[in-house]
Amino acid sequence: MFQTIQFNTPLIIFGMDTVNQIGKHAKNLGAGRVLIVADPGFVKGEGLERVASSLKGESLSFEIFDRIEPEPSTDVVKGAYEVARKGNFDVFIGVGGGSTMDVTKMASALMTNTGSPHDFFGVEKVKTRGKPTIMVPTTSGTGAEVTKHAIFLDTKDNVKKAVASVNILPDVALVDPMLAASCPPHVTASTGLDAFIHAAEPFLSKMANPLTDAIALQAIRIITRWLGPAVADGGNLEARYYMSLGSLMAGLVLHNSGTSLVHAIAYPIGGEYHTSHGVTLCAILVACFEYIVMAKQEKFAQLAEAMGESVDGLSQREAAHRALDAIDYLVRSVGLPTNLRELGTVKEESRIKRWAVDAHKEQRLLSRCARQLSVEDIEKIIERAFEKE
Ligand SMILES: [Fe+2]
Repeated sequence: MFQTIQFNTPLIIFGMDTVNQIGKHAKNLGAGRVLIVADPGFVKGEGLERVASSLKGESLSFEIFDRIEPEPSTDVVKGAYEVARKGNFDVFIGVGGGSTMDVTKMASALMTNTGSPHDFFGVEKVKTRGKPTIMVPTTSGTGAEVTKHAIFLDTKDNVKKAVASVNILPDVALVDPMLAASCPPHVTASTGLDAFIHAAEPFLSKMANPLTDAIALQAIRIITRWLGPAVADGGNLEARYYMSLGSLMAGLVLHNSGTSLVHAIAYPIGGEYHTSHGVTLCAILVACFEYIVMAKQEKFAQLAEAMGESVDGLSQREAAHRALDAIDYLVRSVGLPTNLRELGTVKEESRIKRWAVDAHKEQRLLSRCARQLSVEDIEKIIERAFEKE
């Protein structure tokens, strides 16, 4: 089979203290007036001063919008857009976690596309590229700096939905590991595992290709090696450096090959219990992968090897199952849940059924899965995620 591959990426600037270059990149994009969309926490720290002094160094004027919520609704996007429209900004900088970057992408898109934020939910609904954007992540996990996705709570029906459009792909991803250095251990753990899953899930899906596979395996090596040290000692800059790099690489895999069943099943669970994204994924991760291991045995064996497991002399089946054990250990080792009981959810037949029905609606994600999944199959996976030790 001869596969056609498309691989999109923003210009990537990665390295220690690269945030000091942001003014130069904003200028290259034609900036006169810059809107900085930032996490409220970032605005209080010294990181903002570094962004500001770099912009001032290029004689660029800027304003700051920081009314960001953890799981932003379409109303937050409208608020950012109102500020952007009135200020007539021509370059947008998003500094923060995934939520902040998502709001930045949509605020920029609304500058050149007519409509409300909810008009753009779905695939390729943003018809015109927005104003140029620079994304600066302050956690190592979401990969939003290199993706064409933005996720918001639709205030019309209180459901989280995704905008997936190449026209909201950022122009520049500026990744400075120093900005993640103050991330607390539990956030480092959950965002780090989210990044791991952004590499592993597409690698095991029908959408995998040789380009994303190469990047995925290297991201998996890096994250497996450095997640524990980064959680154990946030001041370990070598660990921060590699976790930022691993997360960036995983973001490229996510963007170009897409996530699948783990993310699809996590959405309704996280929506009901308001558990953080990475933590919710962990609670169902091994149960999901156990269900697809028979479809992708060879790939699971490669995953085990990338995770540093000794697979010499093992059969392919044994090596594949070694990957499941290694993933289970990785999640446990940083104190995250490996089943739904630990997440604090309550097992009820009607709840499992409802989650399965909602997850099954995520056909954009499930169509990539290596195994075809009915509602009943998803119920079995959720059951297993409750029962698993
Ligand atoms: Fe994710």
